[in-house]
Amino acid sequence: MAGYSNDHIASLVRPDQVHRDVYEDPDLFDLEMDRIFGRSWVYVGHESQVPEPGDFFCTRVGLQPVVMSRHSDGTVYVVYNRCAHRGVKVVNEECGNVGRFMCMYHGWTYDTNGDLDFVTQSEGYPDLEFDKLEHGMGRVARWESHHGFVFANLSPDGPGLREWLGENSDFLDDVAVSAPDGEVEVTGGVHRYLYHGNWKMQVENLIDMYHPAYSHESSSAKGGQQFSRREGDKGGIQFFEKRGKVKSMDGLGTHALPNGHTWQGGLPPVENMSEDHRAYVALLEEKHGPNRTREILIKKRHNVIFYPNMAMQELNPHIRVIRPLAVDRTEIFIYPVKLKGAPEKMFRDQLINLNRTHSPTSLVQTDDVEAFTRAQEGMMTSGNEWVLLARTGPQESLESGRIRTTGTSEEGMRNHYRAWLEYMCADRPE
Ligand SMILES: [Fe+2]
Repeated sequence: MAGYSNDHIASLVRPDQVHRDVYEDPDLFDLEMDRIFGRSWVYVGHESQVPEPGDFFCTRVGLQPVVMSRHSDGTVYVVYNRCAHRGVKVVNEECGNVGRFMCMYHGWTYDTNGDLDFVTQSEGYPDLEFDKLEHGMGRVARWESHHGFVFANLSPDGPGLREWLGENSDFLDDVAVSAPDGEVEVTGGVHRYLYHGNWKMQVENLIDMYHPAYSHESSSAKGGQQFSRREGDKGGIQFFEKRGKVKSMDGLGTHALPNGHTWQGGLPPVENMSEDHRAYVALLEEKHGPNRTREILIKKRHNVIFYPNMAMQELNPHIRVIRPLAVDRTEIFIYPVKLKGAPEKMFRDQLINLNRTHSPTSLVQTDDVEAFTRAQEGMMTSGNEWVLLARTGPQESLESGRIRTTGTSEEGMRNHYRAWLEYMCADRPE
């Protein structure tokens, strides 16, 4: 790994520009895996993906393979996916249910909390006293959940999950309360795709309301409005005024929070006439009364980014996980979120709409992925080494530490880079 000084790293980020190296330099990518993904809370998965004892789900924190599992005592654990013997990845399936994990190389087995269970032909280690934890798969330093959303942190230092989430924890509260049963489930499968571009491009795109009219022009209909994203909605986002003039998204607002988190204001409400929506509203009213239900139905935010690797959308609820693979290669996972207790058909319609907007071949994702690929290529040129993030608008700083500004401002991206610098330049214990 290149020995970049803090001064060098700091020189790559200016108040309104970033150097192309942050997208192109493999050594910086390695540092990011160590200093951002190795120090921040990173989204792992949802507890509902491992409902029963023995259930497991494999993912990565940065480049490091981990397993989220439900142990026999009902507790969820996050452990490294590595055999204590010769380093082999123990769990190879992406998800499933087991009594215990077994390494395929020499047959060592582990409990579903990662503790060492059994060493084959252990008489060959007369001088070694095996310890369940020390010779286990190894627990990550910390993991915590909020409404079942599990985040892990490979570092024992730094804020707890709730403090790190800040106002994003209110968003998870809002998502949970919008389910008639007060909780959500991640049980609708996954869309998965890869693009040839840096992971930060996807993060930045999720707070970019400047691009839709241009990148996604082909997904808008005659009146300049995009197709609806939810069953029963009369229409989607208005990209253009009737005469073809671009409609600014500034009114939506951009919100920049501490720790790199960002969100956009919710899309303007659209009347929803579907029978299922009415049934859903009736269920909420039964539980919360009409006034609180009206509040719950107002979607205050559109894309909510949990920096560095997760984003959620509430209108058609889904989780997007951003998995960096290399400096120029990123994998994306889209998980539909089910509102427990809502009419079953509503979830099916949600899936159909998500296929249209978020599948690898959808009318929208393909545009974004093309932009990421072209950006990765365009930035190879040496003629201009800087990327411009200078777009701005009137903004105010709120007491909570949140900055509120216009929808097409690039303040969200500048906020990502403030967090990026904090992680990347923080003093390292020797
Ligand atoms: Fe887009």
